Amino acid sequence: MLQRVSALIAVGAVVLTMAGCGSGGTSATTDGGKAADDGKITMGFSQVGAESGWRTANTKSVQESAKTAGVELKFSDAQQKQENQIKAIRSFVQQKVDVIAFSPVVESGWDTVLKEAQSAKIPVILTDRAVDSADTTLYKTFLGSDFVEEGKKAGQWLVEEYKDSKDPVNIVELQGTTGSAPANDRKAGFAEVIAADPKFKIAASQTGDFTRAKGKEVMDAFLKSTPDIDVLFAHNDDMGLGAIEAIEGAGKVPGKDIKIITIDAVKDGMQALADGKISYIVECSPLLGPQLMDLAKKVVAGEQVPARVVTEETAFTQEQAKAALPTRQY
Ligand code: AHR
Repeated sequence: MLQRVSALIAVGAVVLTMAGCGSGGTSATTDGGKAADDGKITMGFSQVGAESGWRTANTKSVQESAKTAGVELKFSDAQQKQENQIKAIRSFVQQKVDVIAFSPVVESGWDTVLKEAQSAKIPVILTDRAVDSADTTLYKTFLGSDFVEEGKKAGQWLVEEYKDSKDPVNIVELQGTTGSAPANDRKAGFAEVIAADPKFKIAASQTGDFTRAKGKEVMDAFLKSTPDIDVLFAHNDDMGLGAIEAIEGAGKVPGKDIKIITIDAVKDGMQALADGKISYIVECSPLLGPQLMDLAKKVVAGEQVPARVVTEETAFTQEQAKAALPTRQY
């Protein structure tokens, strides 16, 4: 609502009563009409899709937190397509929402639409994933995990696990969505750590698009093309779970014949870890909703917020998964 006020002042229109964002009463709008001001912030939220257990938990967290915080949420599912997200953001701009939040499918190609939001004086918050825009004034803050750190944690576990072995370690990697921040960063973090010892070799690396079905399909192909796989590094639990089906289908034992490291720590992944099929999971928390609503309120009120808010996360061994499972929220 604040940005509506600024826009009105800019065109010299008369603003009647406006005591700040979400204030009561009725306010004039830039298109000359009247908008009912019920005291609520309206957030346009463009979600990546519903590709994984993580994403489902993230959507639930955002929707429930909006309700709790009294934020009116306009939710749009992009079905993992950047063009759908761009359309959604443009529609939020047209609807004159108070704030836009989105989790970008890929890192590149956002400048034009973000400039449109900026020109309309609608603040943007990046949540979960980053963009690679050089102009960081195009968004107010970025809330989410440190994906490079997650990749490093996966690599550090592997280095420790094989510290007493001199034999080569053949790794296959299931990458997340091509061009996405988590795929780029997790790959980079993992590669940096394992580069310290030449016995670690990435024998094959391909995208599984963060889905269980693709994880199975690509792992099936790896098992045919790559002999002697020792380790699978999957950029999320869902791809790891799909790969487990492929490994079992090939008559091998996941966790024994092939060690598996994944990222996320959703319930299904944690169960597979507790069952000994996965060896180690690095946590990536989807519960970003409460912090997002908090940041949104501050940004709309014109308060300063940190440019980067990093989610706190841990990692789980098989024993730790057994202990954590009964109280796991997602
Ligand atoms: O951006 C977060 C990643 O996206 C999660 O690790 C993955 O499961 C999801 O699809």
